[in-house]
Amino acid sequence: MARGEGFGKVILFGEHFVVYGLPGIASAVGDKTIATVEKSDKYEFIDNRPATEGYKDKKQGEIERSMKLILGFMKIDVEKTPVKITLSGELFCTSGIGASAALATSVARAFSEYFGLNLNDEQINRISYEGEKGSAKTPSGIDNTCATFGGLLWFEKNLGGGPNRIDLIKIKQPIGIVLGSTGLSSVTSEVVEDVRKAKGEEQEKYERIFREYVEVVNEGKKALESYDLEKLGELMDKNHSLLKEMNLSCEEAEEIIGAAKSAGAPGAKITGTGRGGYVITLTPGKELQEKVAKTIEAKGYRVLKTTIG
Ligand code: MEV
Repeated sequence: MARGEGFGKVILFGEHFVVYGLPGIASAVGDKTIATVEKSDKYEFIDNRPATEGYKDKKQGEIERSMKLILGFMKIDVEKTPVKITLSGELFCTSGIGASAALATSVARAFSEYFGLNLNDEQINRISYEGEKGSAKTPSGIDNTCATFGGLLWFEKNLGGGPNRIDLIKIKQPIGIVLGSTGLSSVTSEVVEDVRKAKGEEQEKYERIFREYVEVVNEGKKALESYDLEKLGELMDKNHSLLKEMNLSCEEAEEIIGAAKSAGAPGAKITGTGRGGYVITLTPGKELQEKVAKTIEAKGYRVLKTTIG
C-alpha cells in the first residue's frame, strides 16, 4: 500500500488578494490529510476524513473534479489500473483550512509512491495545483504550496505564468493560534467569482482596498520577523476589515472574532475563502490560547489549537 500526506494551511494575510498577484503570508498547520493507494479490482474512492456536517456533500462536485484533474495530469487511467484510494488523517475538513489542497497533495504523493515515480516536491506541488483547479478554477497556488512544502511562507503568484515567488519566513519561535470554525462551508470558486465581479463593478473602492492591503502585508512580514505580535494582531484586524468590506465575513465569523478579542487575542480574522469556514485568532502563550479557545467554545463553536511558523 502506498501512502502520501498533505498539510492543512492557514492564511495570515492575503486570501483573495493573492489571486490578483498580490503577496500573501500563509502557514502550514500540523494537521494533515493522509491518502493511501492500493490495488483493487475496481476504482474506489473512500473519504474517511473528519469534516464539518455537510462539508463533503457541498464539496462532492469539487472533489470529483479535482480527482479527475489529478488523474488526468498524472496520466493515470483508473479503468485500466483500478485502485482503491482512501483518505484519512486528523485534518478536520471545513472551508478555510486548505482541505482540498491537502487532499490533492496527499493523493499525488501516494500515487508517486504507488507507481514508483519518485516525484520531487516541485512536481507534487504542480500536480496539487492542477487538483486545486477543481475547486478554485483560477487558484492562486497558495494552498497547494503550503500543503506540499509546509512552513511559514511569503507567496506571490506569477501572473505571467512563470514560477511563483515562494520565500520561507523565519521567526524566533512558533506562535500559538486558535482556529474557530463557523461550521459553514463555502464554495471557493463561487466566492472568488463574486469578488472578481464586485472588483469590476466598484473599481475605485477595490483599488483603495488593494492599496491598503499591500501596506498591511508588507508590515505583517516585518512584524513576524521582528516578532512584534501586538503589531501582527493589529495588522490581522486591519486585513479582516478589508475582507469585511469585500463582503467576505459572516455573522458567525464576527461572533468568533468578538469572543477572541474579548478574551485578549491581539488579532483575529477570517482565513481562506471566507463567508464561513475558519477564523484565525492570534494567541501567543499557552494560557491565552486556552482562554481564547474556551471563550470561543462557550459560544458553541468548534476550535482547533495549533501553531504557525
Ligand atoms: C483559498 O484558501 C484562498 C483564496 O485566495 C483562493 C486562492 O488563493 O486560490 C480565496
